[in-house]
Amino acid sequence: MELITAIQERKSFRAFKSDPVSKGTIEKILKLATQAPSAINLQPWEFIAVTGEEKERLSRRLIKAYREKQISCGPGNVKPMPKTVTLRGAKTLQLMNPFFEEMGVNPDRFINEGSCNFYGAPVAILICLDDSFPKSRLVDIGIVLGYFILVAHEFGLGTCPIGLITAYEDEIKDLLNIPENKRVVIGVALGYPDLNSPINRFKSPREDLETLIRWID
Ligand SMILES: Cc1cc2nc3c(=O)[nH]c(=O)nc-3n(C[C@H](O)[C@H](O)[C@H](O)COP(=O)(O)O)c2cc1C
Repeated sequence: MELITAIQERKSFRAFKSDPVSKGTIEKILKLATQAPSAINLQPWEFIAVTGEEKERLSRRLIKAYREKQISCGPGNVKPMPKTVTLRGAKTLQLMNPFFEEMGVNPDRFINEGSCNFYGAPVAILICLDDSFPKSRLVDIGIVLGYFILVAHEFGLGTCPIGLITAYEDEIKDLLNIPENKRVVIGVALGYPDLNSPINRFKSPREDLETLIRWID
């Protein structure tokens, strides 16, 4: 598959089949994803692949934590965001609504508990960063995440990055015995998408390029 086709086709999936993904396939995807560039080739990323009953245990723990703490999916902004940006998020959720209606689900619950459950995917990938690194190394994690989701697509697998789980990092570290000095930066749901689920027909829009670029000639 051409790279451009993969970029155009890829999207986040929010319903998965329970079919397992082999360890060999996960390794192949990670091997390719870690061809990503990083500052001084530090390759600061660390991956944890959680599958089987352990993944179910992780989901149960995260859903419990969500129900107790009620921290929802959100942009995590530290000051008010520009209105244009806020509107993009609101528009995306609005466009998802008909699919939620078709499924007869509560959108908040579907997104928040779904995220905690990695939307039923059989594999949860956690990407971690040692806390000795500065914030700027999060760029490297973002790049490897981008590679990962594209390579997974090439393998016929679906993904959904899951940022919500970082709100429950303490619970994750406790359950999976992750050392205190590791930060869980992002999770990714990985599996074969359930193409019969209405939500997987949703494709999010993108802003016109002219609103995103300022040319200085
Ligand atoms: C860093 C990051 C965190 C995300 N966290 C979540 C999440 O917690 N739950 C979720 O349903 N989607 C999450 N997403 C998926 C985004 O909502 C999705 O990428 C965006 O709406 C664009 O849609 P697309 O991936 O289908 O192109 C996240 C994406 C990124 C890049």
